Amino acid sequence: MSEEKNGSGYGLAQAGGSASAAAPELPYLPPMPRTYRPRIGLVGCGGISEYHLRAYRAMGLEVSALCDVDPARAERRRAEFFPGAEIFTDHRELLRRSDVEVVDLALHPQERVRAIEDSLRARRHVLSQKPFVLDLDTGARLADLADAMDVRLAVNQNGRWAPHFAWMTSAVRAGLLGRVASVDFTLQWDHTWTAGTPFEEIRHLVLFDFGIHWFDLTARLLRGRAVRRVTASATRTAFQQMRPPMLAAVNVECDDAQVRMAFNGHVLHGQEDRTVICGEKGTLRSVGPSLSDQRVTLSNAKGAAEPRLGGTWFTSGFQGAMGELLCSIEEQRAPDHDARGNLDGLALSFAAMASADTGRPVAPGAARHAPGH
Ligand SMILES: NC(=O)c1ccc[n+]([C@@H]2O[C@H](COP(=O)([O-])OP(=O)(O)OC[C@H]3O[C@@H](n4cnc5c(N)ncnc54)[C@H](O)[C@@H]3O)[C@@H](O)[C@H]2O)c1
Repeated sequence: MSEEKNGSGYGLAQAGGSASAAAPELPYLPPMPRTYRPRIGLVGCGGISEYHLRAYRAMGLEVSALCDVDPARAERRRAEFFPGAEIFTDHRELLRRSDVEVVDLALHPQERVRAIEDSLRARRHVLSQKPFVLDLDTGARLADLADAMDVRLAVNQNGRWAPHFAWMTSAVRAGLLGRVASVDFTLQWDHTWTAGTPFEEIRHLVLFDFGIHWFDLTARLLRGRAVRRVTASATRTAFQQMRPPMLAAVNVECDDAQVRMAFNGHVLHGQEDRTVICGEKGTLRSVGPSLSDQRVTLSNAKGAAEPRLGGTWFTSGFQGAMGELLCSIEEQRAPDHDARGNLDGLALSFAAMASADTGRPVAPGAARHAPGH
């Protein structure tokens, strides 16, 4: 286990090289339950499952069942990570194993709803991959079902535990910026790896499947404030081969705040990922050549502080999503990333896609489906 895990979720943030002020200590590390270590069943052994399993092994958790319609995929993951796991090709068979208390669903949303429903009805706690659902009413129904069955349903918005995002949201929550007025997310990265995969079939790949992490963060940063409207556009570059637009711009508007997003997923050289959050008392800035290489600065009247953060999105993020679910079960409370709360970010993404398609501003909640569903 890496230095990131210390049980409390609190990490030491030390001032970096060019900082003029000490960085405050803030909770940003993935949480771990005190003693609860249930057996986990993973359904969907495709590309992303590698990072789920890597995280669980690092956390000392036990995955005792693996399921994929293609058994060779499940067998490969078993050989790589959990040699003792039982293999299934149907999630309903996996649910017959009464010792599996938590089910991790790493499926695409189309196949996932059925598996979520079956798992909840079998009284299992569920971690669903993102984007949670293709329509808001289905999402609300599943959240209700989880409540009715008295189990937890959480969504794997692992970006929340990416060290830079976790530290910045923690700083905002601690009131270090005062009231937030603007958030700017600017991303130039290479998303062309999705060519020829099922992701290429997603019409608004950037505004939905990818962008959902940024809409989720937006909903968290604007919690308690009314979003009036979302305006967005999406277009293809002149030189891209793949179908979905790789360029997208979004403006999320409250009466006294804006969140702006600028995405270019077709940048092969000179990539950069930048987040700037401005409030009445200070500014948070995180910049780096990729999502897993970020440098955070907090600027305020005392000067500039640079916390030195451990971990990366793909290590801390997947540990955080499972760790927080297990903590919520152990502590008998709702998880921070519960399904009902996830609908706020999803509503922003749906509004952005509807705006990009119609050329008009859309209020969150007015667009209830992902386009085409
Ligand atoms: N940062 C992140 O959290 C992150 C990153 C990548 C992907 N994802 C999300 O994870 C989900 C899966 O992505 P992926 O890249 O692993 O996709 P993938 O296509 O590589 O894998 C999907 C797997 O599900 C299996 N499958 C399909 N239907 C099934 C069923 N009914 N029962 C059991 N197995 C079934 C397929 O055989 C395949 O192995 C998507 O929703 C994606 O958006 C999240």
